[in-house]
Amino acid sequence: MLIAVCSLKGSPGVTTLATALAVRWPGQEKPIVVEADPAGGDLMARFRLSDTPGLVSLAAAARGRSAADPNLLPQHTQLLPGGLRVVLGPVGAEQARAALTVLAWGPSWPLRRAADHPETTVIADCGRVDPDSPVFPIIRSADAMLLVARPHDDELAHVALKLQAAQQWSRRPCFVLVGDGYPTAEVSQALRIPVMGRVPRDDKGAAVLCGQGTGRRGPDKSALGRAAAKIAHNIHALAVNNGTRVPHLRVAVPGEPVSAAPLQPLGPQTRSGATS
Ligand SMILES: Nc1ncnc2c1ncn2[C@@H]1O[C@H](COP(=O)(O)OP(=O)(O)O)[C@@H](O)[C@H]1O
Ligand SMILES: [Mg+2]
Repeated sequence: MLIAVCSLKGSPGVTTLATALAVRWPGQEKPIVVEADPAGGDLMARFRLSDTPGLVSLAAAARGRSAADPNLLPQHTQLLPGGLRVVLGPVGAEQARAALTVLAWGPSWPLRRAADHPETTVIADCGRVDPDSPVFPIIRSADAMLLVARPHDDELAHVALKLQAAQQWSRRPCFVLVGDGYPTAEVSQALRIPVMGRVPRDDKGAAVLCGQGTGRRGPDKSALGRAAAKIAHNIHALAVNNGTRVPHLRVAVPGEPVSAAPLQPLGPQTRSGATS
């Protein structure tokens, strides 16, 4: 199973959510996270890891021999504390884009091959995405796309503008909100899209997933981790059951097309960040 996590604007917490989903994924076999962000990766610096193996060595290997080998991807992972396997993106955008151009090309690229194995889930952190992005083929071929946004006017205005197109990128588009801002139901109604989940603002929980802080507020205990567990469960169920109906927190206004117009002003923002 291949899950693409991405945003349309800003830095809403895509990498943090991709990592949290992997840690809280249902079942024994934890997913492999691939930092496929064309703007460059963050996990190498956050966890002070070596720059190889990673996305660049994977691209070199995929060029040199059969990218169809399902074992290629696992061979280029490093372990985060706690044991999560990650293919680290290079810090530099130029290097990342070059590697992704190799990896996303052709029908037998290594992410899809690894994800085709019934026991393997790959979570690709695709960063901020548009159709010109080198990572776009990964989104297209993913089993589900998780679109992440913060429920603020600026980010939602971009989402509203691009949502109709973005929903066509994937066979299973899912929408997730992160942090404080407009209530979930208001966003869902204004954008006319179901919201699959909401991740609360949780500075300590996020810090642990960024390599800071102690394990006491780790993803097993933190509010962020609990929210990620619910979303992981929903995506897993969606993809495993081969469904296209996206589980959601609030039902969108039925029967009306998604508006591509800028978001209409919503009610006053909540201070605490409602979770429903
Ligand atoms: N739910 C959250 N609560 C609090 N801080 C968060 C949350 N998600 C992400 N962050 C913080 O926001 C910053 C950007 O997160 P990151 O996941 O790197 O975003 P992106 O990948 O979208 O650029 C990081 O400092 C991270 O710790
Ligand atoms: Mg990121």
